[in-house]
Amino acid sequence: MQDLIEFDEQRKVFHLHNTKISYLFSVEDGNVLSHLYFGKAITKYHGQLRYPRIDRGFSGNLPGSTDRGFSRDTLPQEYSSNGTGDYRIPAVIIQHNNGSYADAFCFKNYKIENGKPQLEGLPQAYVKNPNEAQTLTVTLEDQINQIEVDLLYTIYRNRAVITRAACVKNNSKDSVTLEKVASMQLDFVAKKFDSICLPGAHANERHFDRAKIDYGVKSFESRRGTSSHHMNPFVALVDEKTDEFSGEAYGFNFVYSGNHAFQIEKDQIGQTRIVVGINDYDFSWKLDAGKTFQTPEVLLVYSANGLNEMSQEYHHIIRERVVRSKFKYQERPILVNNWEATYFDFDEEKLKPIVDEAKSLGIEMFVLDDGWFGKRDDDTSSLGDWKVYHKKFPQGLKHFSDYVHEQKLKFGIWFEPEMISIDSDLYRAHLDYLMQVPKRDPSPSRSQFVLDMSRAEVRDNIYTQMVEILDEGIDYVKWDMNRHLSDVYSLGLPPKQQGEVYHRYILGVYELLEKLTQRYPNILFEGCSGGGGRFDAGWAYYMPQSWTSDNTDAIARLTIQYGTSLAYPISTITAHVSAIPNHQTGRKTPLKTRSDVAMSGVFGYELDLTQMTLQEKNDVKEQVAFYKSIRKLVQFGDFYRLKNPTNGNQAAWMFVSSNRDEVMVFVFQILAFAQPEFTKTILVGLDEDRTYQDVVTKEEFTGLELMNLGIYDPVAQEDYTSKIYHFKALK
Ligand code: GLA
Repeated sequence: MQDLIEFDEQRKVFHLHNTKISYLFSVEDGNVLSHLYFGKAITKYHGQLRYPRIDRGFSGNLPGSTDRGFSRDTLPQEYSSNGTGDYRIPAVIIQHNNGSYADAFCFKNYKIENGKPQLEGLPQAYVKNPNEAQTLTVTLEDQINQIEVDLLYTIYRNRAVITRAACVKNNSKDSVTLEKVASMQLDFVAKKFDSICLPGAHANERHFDRAKIDYGVKSFESRRGTSSHHMNPFVALVDEKTDEFSGEAYGFNFVYSGNHAFQIEKDQIGQTRIVVGINDYDFSWKLDAGKTFQTPEVLLVYSANGLNEMSQEYHHIIRERVVRSKFKYQERPILVNNWEATYFDFDEEKLKPIVDEAKSLGIEMFVLDDGWFGKRDDDTSSLGDWKVYHKKFPQGLKHFSDYVHEQKLKFGIWFEPEMISIDSDLYRAHLDYLMQVPKRDPSPSRSQFVLDMSRAEVRDNIYTQMVEILDEGIDYVKWDMNRHLSDVYSLGLPPKQQGEVYHRYILGVYELLEKLTQRYPNILFEGCSGGGGRFDAGWAYYMPQSWTSDNTDAIARLTIQYGTSLAYPISTITAHVSAIPNHQTGRKTPLKTRSDVAMSGVFGYELDLTQMTLQEKNDVKEQVAFYKSIRKLVQFGDFYRLKNPTNGNQAAWMFVSSNRDEVMVFVFQILAFAQPEFTKTILVGLDEDRTYQDVVTKEEFTGLELMNLGIYDPVAQEDYTSKIYHFKALK
């Protein structure tokens, strides 16, 4: 096996490389680590093309050095220290025992090993065998403060992916306070970037947003205690000319579900620094003598061929090496969820006909959503009481789940484990489980409050309650979180350590999830947080799929699913057909369009099947059968975005099987016009010389025709239309 990481002892240069990418950095004067290059693979670095030296006013030099051309303030670095002359955004800020915030981290030693070490208690990309990746650990040290930082770099053999994380170790005799610990930093020279991020709101998540990086600091972050609908923990830096198919793109995908920050600074000489990690907002961490602090990791991707290639790298690494569940390779069941069908107004007798209908339509799973527990008739009570509501299920939950199983459907159930209602037995028994600042009334949100998941006794209580339900033969769990953190405080920590609560909260949630997913390997877990409020790679480690948005309107979903696909694989993106007028937007879209949008992800229904007309039921039956025939391709094929709906009237995307035998193309038109301009959809990713046959019309085309002439889009005299093409290569 060829080594993926080399260290040139003479020139003091590290080179991480595979067939796709190279990443280079060196040890410079004063043992400062300097970034040299991240991009297309180079076979060898001869050591000459180094950062130039020049005396720049007001950018100071190393202590004891007479070289005025070398400054920490301008040097591209790997992990910058605070308070010692680099005025740009630091990667780490530590308050020491003498009150100082200054560090100068210098190269101490390094280690190269096969595989990838486990990051304790955190989600992460993993390896299946040690040969598929190598890991470099570079240890930096501040000798005066006796603090070490390990920088971890893992490069995979066949992917354009590097993972990075950092680990701080306190070797001094005193406690120190970590005020900030980024997972990574990357400095770029001579590049002009746009940023692409995925901002949004509840029911309006992950819009594709592109803007120029200019002087100053730009920050994309969450302060909500979770990764949030509002700013997804993913950012790309792309060349100004980069599009879906050409140009450079650097992706940064943070494997973490708590507060995050992506800080980007364009400095005095036009260089760009990006620092990614746990948000330092309301963060501080007491690091006792001899202790370590491990950061979560970032998945870095480089693409020389535009955004689609970057996304495909993310789709691959998350699907293959972040998701762990046995379901990662399994075709996911088509479900019907009762939320938009009934909301809280249901009981066993009302649900049974929906189950019966689902069975006759070929649907494979029934999901019982919010309202089955405690005394939950609306959203003001019972969170924390995970016992069946006997008014709705007089003979117990098992009686109903048996009924569902007898119809040969799987049975799924909804939980919101991190929350508590004031009107709950849990609250009456344990007032102190509710997270709040002493003497201060906490703020409600959706009439509910947050449990202090940083405390083991709180997690144990919820775990015990959930296990009782899950032991009863549950096939699927939807894990929800319907508010964000406020009034953050833990009775489990002394006053001086309250800055640890946000991070300890998410570590506690991860621990609970680890226990549950290990205990129930046969349960399919679906993430959710008021729709897509926790759609992140950290969550994917525990849950192979996530509810993408509470917005089920087909047209709104075009932009949401388009944006989500930038960083996350289709097998994680769940999408349901719902009723019209749509409950979030009031829009009326054709059933076919709703189904085509939902079929572009992990497919399901979320409406009262019993209320449909005979014609609609027939259509649904066909949709279900059709999706079963294409779902392998959709969920596990190569996905390409073709037309961005964000600023346009169309969306288009396609799926190609790995052997390029089978192809699905989806084209959506939002509004109709009287004198329409003709438009085309040009396909990509096919074999040039093979003949592809349209499964419906039997027309034949070579790959070259489809990828050059393209297909004229249909002209529809109706708003909100869609068209699917299904091609198979002739043998
Ligand atoms: C959230 C979810 C919905 C539904 C409701 C139930 O909003 O995203 O799908 O489960 O909670 O309260």
